[in-house]
Amino acid sequence: MSESSTHPPLLLVRGVSKSFPGVRALDNVELTLRRGEVHALMGENGAGKSTLIKVLTGVYPHDGGTIEFDGRAISPASPRDAERAGISTVYQEVNLVPTLSVAENLCVGRFPTRGGLIRWGAARRRAETALERVGLKLRVGRQLDEYSLAIQQMVAIARALDAEAKLLILDEPTSSLDESEVDRLLELMDSLRSGGLAILFVTHFMGQVYRISDRITVLRNGAFVAESMAKDLPRFDLIGQMVGKDPEALRAREAEVRALHQKKAGGGTLARVNGLGKQGSVAPVGFEIGEGQTVGLGGLLGSGRTETARLIFGIDKADAGSLEIDGKAHRPGSPREAMALGIAMTPDDRKVNGIIPNLSVRDNIVLALQSKRGIWRRISPKAQRDLAAKYIASLNIKTSNAETPVGTLSGGNQQKVLLARWLAVNPRLFILDEPTRGIDVGAKGEIEHLVADLAEQGMSLVFISSELEEVARVSQRVVVLCDREQVGELEGEAISEHAILEMIARAGEKEEEGETGWKPVPLGDEERNERDGDG
Ligand SMILES: Nc1ncnc2c1ncn2[C@@H]1O[C@H](COP(=O)(O)OP(=O)(O)OP(=O)(O)O)[C@@H](O)[C@H]1O
Ligand SMILES: [Mg+2]
Repeated sequence: MSESSTHPPLLLVRGVSKSFPGVRALDNVELTLRRGEVHALMGENGAGKSTLIKVLTGVYPHDGGTIEFDGRAISPASPRDAERAGISTVYQEVNLVPTLSVAENLCVGRFPTRGGLIRWGAARRRAETALERVGLKLRVGRQLDEYSLAIQQMVAIARALDAEAKLLILDEPTSSLDESEVDRLLELMDSLRSGGLAILFVTHFMGQVYRISDRITVLRNGAFVAESMAKDLPRFDLIGQMVGKDPEALRAREAEVRALHQKKAGGGTLARVNGLGKQGSVAPVGFEIGEGQTVGLGGLLGSGRTETARLIFGIDKADAGSLEIDGKAHRPGSPREAMALGIAMTPDDRKVNGIIPNLSVRDNIVLALQSKRGIWRRISPKAQRDLAAKYIASLNIKTSNAETPVGTLSGGNQQKVLLARWLAVNPRLFILDEPTRGIDVGAKGEIEHLVADLAEQGMSLVFISSELEEVARVSQRVVVLCDREQVGELEGEAISEHAILEMIARAGEKEEEGETGWKPVPLGDEERNERDGDG
């Protein structure tokens, strides 16, 4: 007897469809999940992954098809309903209430009560036990948002387990985590799988998919493409399924992008960062940015990459050093001042710093250009439409039209709209902070290509990404940061992911020997322990 007949699948999705006005988000989707497996759900931005998850968790009703879970047909009417059936989820952006305490978040909707009164002592103990299962020790009375995003996600998982989930759904849980936090999450997933939990995992990080998943289901344009064992599906074949192209063509394209970036930029110097620094933020950094050159800021999360970018763009005002452009020293005190110097920057967190969900794609795209021109020089409606059309086409933004509210676009497509907003001002120096976060592999390649094209046209770029491999691929110069201090610089041929990592590791060793002079303002010991979750 085959394994599948002794263990019927935990989840069987058959022929499920879901339409929004103007978009068929899901079209006859199939998905089969077994107990004790990590199953990756893959697809391009807008392929329908999050929509399928929202159908499974009762956020949206589906239009057709069936969902069988644990032996019976279900049709969850709300997330709470799905949770009761045994399906729990952690969304792209954590779905807890940041201003409630950890304990309240763990127990909300399921408080232990007696005579209609909440038993707080019992709630605290229950929260502590739930956290233990994911290896966390926190002060459960503290407000959730006092903890890092990584910890918040672990709390969300603890909540799922406390609700006795049989299926745990993780939609891009690692997009804002640093390497060690990712390791920890993957370890946790591995141990939960051993315990018989089924895990549906959505991510755009290929490395993680292959590290953790047993099976992979690919969606394209809302439809099922294939299900495979991860070990039998080479990376280029997987990408081929996602984008609907021949794997060989993709391989050639990647080589082409690599060659484009390796081409040396020939221009002069555009800018010089001269010991720009700020107490408590980042120690003085210095490097040159050539015309048409891409300078990567390499380092781990929290190393000072974003802080450096914020000083250049004037979001934070430096208290040391200067930014030299065309031979003149400046110290931008606001983004407006930086924009006047020809600088633009995409923020690292699109939710907090960028996207205005209720405004249309067009409005979101013209925003920065309009603000640069000032309110008295309105961009004409026709020019606005042309700009939007241009970027929707060139960045391949998936939207039914330019008037669609940005909030209804998939995560990766929102990211592309932000990119378009700043491209529209045609800056001389463009700072990209995590431009490919949440973006699918196909589009990542396109953005890398775009970066090469912009550099070719003479634009200078500062490129920040948590994926050091990507930083190495697009940059002609890499400034390496560690613990909010510049620890080295690589140029041309010397650049590689390995070389960056080595520089970081060596700096870490020196730090331990107490050789570095400047120290970032430390967290209190207690706080550090709690953020790490083992205090
Ligand atoms: N509430 C909504 N209203 C209208 N359209 C929507 C809504 N939610 C999703 N869509 C559309 O459905 C399609 C699928 O979106 P979905 O968010 O499921 O993609 P995804 O695979 O999760 O992409 P990403 O990798 O970018 O997160 C997209 O075209 C999106 O614009
Ligand atoms: Mg999504």
